[in-house]
Parts: sequence; structure tokens; C-alpha cells
Amino acid sequence: MIVLGIESSCDETGIALFDSEKGLLAHTLHSQVALHAQYGGVVPELASRDHIRHLIPLIEQVLQDAGIEKTTLDGIAYTAGPGLIGALMSGAAVGRSLAWSLGIPAVEVHHMEGHLLAPMLEEDTPEFPFVALLVSGGHTLLADVKALGQYELLGQSLDDAAGEAFDKTAKLLGLGYPGGPALAALAEHGDPGRYRFPRPMIDRPGLDFSFSGLKTFALNTMQRTAKEKIDDGGLARQDKADISLAFEEAVVDTLKIKCRRALEQQQCKNLVIAGGVGANKRLRAALSEMIGELGGELYYPRVEFCTDNGAMIAQVGCFRLMAGETQPLEIDARARWSMQDLKVL
Ligand code: KG4
Ligand code: ZN
Repeated sequence: MIVLGIESSCDETGIALFDSEKGLLAHTLHSQVALHAQYGGVVPELASRDHIRHLIPLIEQVLQDAGIEKTTLDGIAYTAGPGLIGALMSGAAVGRSLAWSLGIPAVEVHHMEGHLLAPMLEEDTPEFPFVALLVSGGHTLLADVKALGQYELLGQSLDDAAGEAFDKTAKLLGLGYPGGPALAALAEHGDPGRYRFPRPMIDRPGLDFSFSGLKTFALNTMQRTAKEKIDDGGLARQDKADISLAFEEAVVDTLKIKCRRALEQQQCKNLVIAGGVGANKRLRAALSEMIGELGGELYYPRVEFCTDNGAMIAQVGCFRLMAGETQPLEIDARARWSMQDLKVL
């Protein structure tokens, strides 16, 4: 079965073709980062319009790259939520109408389920059950992935998502948007002994997170450091690098502590990292060391499939269609959608 996948939940138009026998056939992505950068964040209306501009040309491109005709498609999968409603509707409208015109089924995919199962796009794939840490710009959660569609939420962020905390702190440091990767790059030049940020909520039982206080801590540290300067010339690049490192260490350490707690609680040894912050090198190294101590296995997708992409949507759509999922002929999308409401197949 060959499934076309469409991702348009936020600021990336991702399109891919997934074959149940051969795996990923082709994938492409158009990022809107340059479009939104001047506003310091995603402008929803501009995002929707840009998806509309790129969806059809990108679909034509993946078909051409894979050397197949659209008439050989067996199904179409699109992200139906959670995300920006206008952006989601663009992909949903194109996906379901194209499927209808070709006389093939279309299936809605939950964006987070796409991320959770993204490591399965790689050769060395995790087997159910596993614990997954999903860390993106919009979400931070820990889930027990028992089977396809069967996800137990173990904990989540009570305020800012990890990626959001990275982006907001990067903005305070004047690193542009989205600043997560820029902050991580600057942290590589940081002095590890200069500042220490708190590890939020680790002393409390449970698996929830709270990252918004770290951004305030970063702001206070910046102001204090600037005041201590004799020349009053503002923060130097080294000051920013030291603050970036202290911030990154605090986020990574907190995530590591909670992941270990989740694995012990669920008596599971296999951990999956997914979502944009999963591209962070320090996080991968810390989790890899922790998993090594537990004698388990760590899985993550390649960097381009950590952030939003069409491949993860095409894959989940293919799994769901193969499992016999059918849906009514309607174009629907949800800005909010709990993963626990997913159909178990
Ligand atoms: O999963 P994703 O592409 O979009 C959402 O669904 O939210 O994640 C994007 C987030 C952004 O907040 C970005 O700053 C963060 O992932 N990110 C990183 C890194 N690469 C991307 N954060 C820290 N270190 C990185 N290397
Ligand atoms: Zn995402």
C-alpha cells in the first residue's frame, strides 16, 4: 500500500510517500521560518496562505521524485490536529478532496502520534511497549506507548513546552526565531561552571514538567550580569554563551531525571525521543548515558524527522489504513485533540 502524507499543522509544509513494503519512498519539506522570522513568531493567517501556495506543487514533486503516478496511490493521510486551525484545514481540504477525486480512502493523523512513531522510520526500530519523551515547540510529554493508538499519558508540561522555553529564552538573548538551535549552538562555547539554573519540579513526585520559570531565571541572570559590568556595555557574547549553557543544562537534566523516573515507574527499558528538541545534541547524549546505566535502548529519528515533516504522517496513515481504519467523508480538523482520544486499532 502506498500512502501520501500531508503535514501542515504549523509553519512547515511536509509531504511524503510511504510504502507498507518498502518504507519511505520520497519526502519533501517547505519551511516558513523566513516568512515568520520578521514577526518573531508564527503568524497563523500567513501560515495558512503559504500552505495553500505550496501543497499541490510539493505533492507533484514527491510523486515525480518517487517516479509514480497519483493513480497508483492507495490512500492519503493528513494531520488533522492539534495545531493552527487554518493551517490544518489547508492540508485537510487538499488531502480529503484529492483522495475523493482518486476514489481512495483518506485518514486523519494526530500530529503527536506522528512524532511518537517517527523513530520507526529508521532501520533500528523500537518495539512496543516503550516510553516516549515528546519534546517539541508546542508540547512536552511523557507517554507509555503500548501499541498502535494505545498511549498512556504519564506526564506533561503545566506551562511552556521545552521548545517554547528554548525559543523564549533565545529571544531574550537576541538570538532570533526560532531560537532553540541557535541557543544550543551558542551553549557549546559556554563555561560550565559560571551559572547554575534550577531543575524545576524534580523534588515533587510525578512526571509533570514546568519550564516557564527558567525563562524568568534567565532574564534575572541577564539583568544581574549586565548590572555587574563596569563599562555598562551590555552582555558580551561570552556572557550569553554561559547563560545559554546553564539554561540548556537545566532543561536537559530535568528531562533526564523525569525520563528515568518514567522508565522505572513503567518497568520499561526502552526510550524514544521525538519532537524538535529531540534534535538537541546535549539531550541525546544525556539520555543515552542514562539509558546505558539502565541497560536499555534509546531510539530517535534522524534530525530532519525530529522536527515537523510529512514522512511521520504518511507512516502513521499507512499503519492506520493497513489496520482497517475507515473515516466518514468529511473535512475536519481540530486545534486541540487529546492523544488519549485516539482510536485503538
Ligand atoms: O516538533 P517541532 O518541529 O514543532 C512543533 O511541533 O512544535 O519543534 C520545534 C521546536 C522549536 O521550539 C525549536 O526551537 C526546537 O524544536 N529545536 C531545538 C533544537 N532544534 C529544534 N531546541 C533545542 N535544541 C535544538 N537543537
Ligand atoms: Zn511537531
